[in-house]
Amino acid sequence: MYRTITCGELRLAHVDQEVTLAGWVQKTRKMGGMTFVDIRDRYGITQLAFNQEINAELCEQANKLGREYVIQVTGTVKERSSKNANIPTGEIEIIVSELAVLNSADTPPFTIEDDTDGGDDLRMKYRYLDLRRNPVRANLELRHKMTFEVRRYLDEQNFLEVETPVLIKSTPEGARDFVVPSRMNAGQFYALPQSPQTFKQLLMVSGFDRYFQIVKCFRDEDLRADRQPEFTQIDCEMSFVEQEDILNTFEGMTKHLFKSLRGVEMNEPFQRITWADAMKLYGSDKPDLCFGMQFVELMDIMKGHGFPVFNSAEYIGGICAGGAASYTRKQLDALTEYVKRPQIGAKGMVYARVEADGTVKSSVDKFYSQEVLQQMKEAFGAKPGDLILILSGDDAMKTRKQLCELRLEVGSQLGLRDKNKFVCLWVVDFPLFDWSEEDQRFYAMHHPFTSPKPEDMALLDTDPKAVRANAYDMVINGVEVGGGSIRIYNSELQDKMFQLLGFTPEKAQEQFGFLMNAFKYGAPPHGGIAYGLDRMVSLFAGLDSIRDCIAFPKNNSGRDVMIDAPSFIDQEQLDELNLLVDIKEENNISYGKG
Ligand code: AMO
Repeated sequence: MYRTITCGELRLAHVDQEVTLAGWVQKTRKMGGMTFVDIRDRYGITQLAFNQEINAELCEQANKLGREYVIQVTGTVKERSSKNANIPTGEIEIIVSELAVLNSADTPPFTIEDDTDGGDDLRMKYRYLDLRRNPVRANLELRHKMTFEVRRYLDEQNFLEVETPVLIKSTPEGARDFVVPSRMNAGQFYALPQSPQTFKQLLMVSGFDRYFQIVKCFRDEDLRADRQPEFTQIDCEMSFVEQEDILNTFEGMTKHLFKSLRGVEMNEPFQRITWADAMKLYGSDKPDLCFGMQFVELMDIMKGHGFPVFNSAEYIGGICAGGAASYTRKQLDALTEYVKRPQIGAKGMVYARVEADGTVKSSVDKFYSQEVLQQMKEAFGAKPGDLILILSGDDAMKTRKQLCELRLEVGSQLGLRDKNKFVCLWVVDFPLFDWSEEDQRFYAMHHPFTSPKPEDMALLDTDPKAVRANAYDMVINGVEVGGGSIRIYNSELQDKMFQLLGFTPEKAQEQFGFLMNAFKYGAPPHGGIAYGLDRMVSLFAGLDSIRDCIAFPKNNSGRDVMIDAPSFIDQEQLDELNLLVDIKEENNISYGKG
């Protein structure tokens, strides 16, 4: 037996017991005639004590142990004279009688401590060492518990976990596909699934009326803190349901996860907001409702008073930050610079403070009488000590998005975005289509299988832009953690959808013939949802990036720097796959030479 107990379990109750432990050397300290070694495993840290006077040879051996050596020790548990209240095993130590070095280790490139000295790149290169650190390990433990609780909940609700293929044909969902060449079918490619969307719908046709799968999905899109090229979905589909059934089932799952993993009881029904209201009041389809600061439109009040910027605007709107009138000029200038950054793109920012006597002092006082400023104050319901921040622009949607960024930034600055407080929200009634000015065509806002709202069906022919979908997103603290829809299950309506999306009948048949054919054999009404598991775990763990809850993530260029992927392949492999690689000149790479 390598060990009789782990490094996290020993307490005063074990005093005088003989135990054997195995693990990694966290650190060694020499104090007079004593040497102390911290031994670590997945479960915790235990202090080992070696006494020069009792066993000089063993103590010498201990002095030679390097960081991260793998060791095995046998000894007797004793109460410590100086206890460490910071760790669960802090009241005891092991008086070691036998020590075996199971493996030596090179000095690690960064310290394996909670607060490491290793930068991001280094930790990614040596991710297997990074994973030894408590915070990273804890994130993976939480991930395990989440998938476990998801399975428990869905199993109790009669869902069946079914695996769907990874080598498939492309399902257009907005991102580019990763493709895999087929050796046996020269010149042809599989695509890795962006989601198992069409397969889960086929499973509904097959009669598996409650499906789920915890499944890897692949999307070749630009990466951000909440996006990885391969990520995991909790993918679900149900038959004989309406939107309300799905929202209830998954509201239940979300509440179950909060209760079982965070001990948070959520008794109230989740808030719901329509997409149109979310855009109007928060400038975002994933508003963070941990705090208020709803937008107030000011066109009627502020336009036409001689301030040229507002007079030419198509949208003027603002937020009121309660108690923030104490913002200094410097802080306000910094906020103005923040919204003027190219990523946000506002032209400038107007601010107004409500003074203690109720008067309003603004950065555009020379254009506005106190009477107009008071009307503005009333529109916000602002009180003395409040700060009003206003943006304007010639495109209402764009300006609202800018105001959204400002709202989030001010919310963060005022400490209103507490990572330990969770506000769950359903965003419903998304538009069915997204019009692209650039391509002069419609795209599906969610995906082409989403059904229009029955009451908007007539608008499909007259005003497609106005058609709302039976589509919904689950948003928690401003993070879109899940999204889904009620599907079209009637082949004529699906054909019409493809037509509106600019597919010729041939193209629709080529890409989705299998689904259309299946629908001819008795497709039940159905709908579903997929949660982003990585986003859920990082939200529950309070992480800034989903990378931290993925064992082996990719960096922002989509690379795994540990295994050095993607990489060139041998000519022989290319030949076998019937592939000729012709890298465009501007990339300045000759194949295989980097
Ligand atoms: P959607 O595209 O909205 O829907 O994806 C569902 C959820 O998956 C997560 N997600 C991601 N997480 C990490 N990295 C990414 N690159 C990434 N892309 C998406 C998000 C998102 O809410 N088939 C539909 C679902 C359905 O209709 O049932 C779909 O995939 O949390």
